[in-house]
Amino acid sequence: MILVTGGAGFIGANFVLDWLSVHDEPVVNLDKLTYAGNLHNLASLQGDARHVFVQGDIGDSALLTELLQKHQPRAVVNFAAESHVDRSIHGPEDFIQTNIVGSFRLLEAVRAYWNGLDATPKQDFRFLHVSTDEVYGSLDAQAPAFTEEHLYQPNSPYSASKAASDHLVRAWHHTYGLPVLTTNCSNNYGPLHFPEKLIPLMIVNALAGKPLPIYGDGMQVRDWLYVKDHCSAIRRVLEAGRLGETYNVGGWNEKPNVDIVHHVCSLLDELRPRADGQSYREQISYVKDRPGHDRRYAIDARKLERELGWKPAETFESGIRKTVQWYLENPQWVAQVQSGAYRDWVQTQYANA
Ligand code: NAD
Ligand code: TYD
Repeated sequence: MILVTGGAGFIGANFVLDWLSVHDEPVVNLDKLTYAGNLHNLASLQGDARHVFVQGDIGDSALLTELLQKHQPRAVVNFAAESHVDRSIHGPEDFIQTNIVGSFRLLEAVRAYWNGLDATPKQDFRFLHVSTDEVYGSLDAQAPAFTEEHLYQPNSPYSASKAASDHLVRAWHHTYGLPVLTTNCSNNYGPLHFPEKLIPLMIVNALAGKPLPIYGDGMQVRDWLYVKDHCSAIRRVLEAGRLGETYNVGGWNEKPNVDIVHHVCSLLDELRPRADGQSYREQISYVKDRPGHDRRYAIDARKLERELGWKPAETFESGIRKTVQWYLENPQWVAQVQSGAYRDWVQTQYANA
């Protein structure tokens, strides 16, 4: 079996669902269930013996040791993290605790477990760390996309904490020989995305008749990948990635934020037109910019394509259509995540906009 951390969050839950749709290999899913962890994401696995959920913290060494000994996984895939840049600006502490200290504790528990394995399982074992393109910092408009050789220049507390965890993973390989793999992926979007991130926030606010807040001039560029394509990339790297290597994951879909919001509005105009016949674009509202807002991210994924033959299945147009349709078909999921912590957070973030 494999141990997945953070498997109740956006990408982790998509990964667990995707994994069990193509494998019968069981998954132990360790998740702290922070505001971003949502067991409803995994409701379709209820009663499925291939999925074992454990609520807990990757910083809990005793729990990690117990889980590793009990389940004897052949691989660990680490998704667990605090992941929202705006939250990291308001309160960086949790990011340091989970993304740095938690990753360190996880690496140490995994190292002890791996050292105790017999020769064959020890040789076959893998630790895959899921990271982000944001560790590379911001690109000028004309600069080539990030390759794996790009300098680490993180600019936000979030990206700095992820960069630190990447360095720990690298060091645990070089110093202790731990068989690690790291993936650095561009912005994901798709089903189960918590509506504090750009795309789901725009869909949910549009449907609720609320403003669509665009930070600054809206010309910041992100490189978008449909979440299931990220999942297939992680499966491929786990299967065939070279030990100690990092792989950039992206779909060559650079777009300014305003274009994303316009695209979402056009799809909603087509699929769920406003009662007054106006476009959802009427709801766009330009608000105060994010402090230290990175201007552009872009991923060069050629290493993954060349070495491991991975390619994304979705174009941006097909992926965003599926995403908007998913939100239209799942209002109960949206209502559930909008209770409690999510509403409080939205009030804090946009109070002074
Ligand atoms: P998310 O915030 O939706 O989910 C994170 C999950 O981790 C949640 O279920 C949460 O409960 C859990 N978690 C948080 N702290 C934990 C802890 N201490 N112990 C155990 N579980 C804990 O995040 P996501 O968007 O699914 O991102 C998953 C991973 O992918 C993160 O490492 C993130 O840095 C990386 N990533 C995200 C994107 C993106 O666009 N969302 C892009 C590239 C890489
Ligand atoms: P986000 O989804 O938070 O991802 P990240 O900051 O990790 O790239 O934001 C994506 C882009 O959208 C980013 O440039 C910030 C911008 N943005 C807005 O303009 N308005 C919003 O309400 C949010 C949440 C993000």
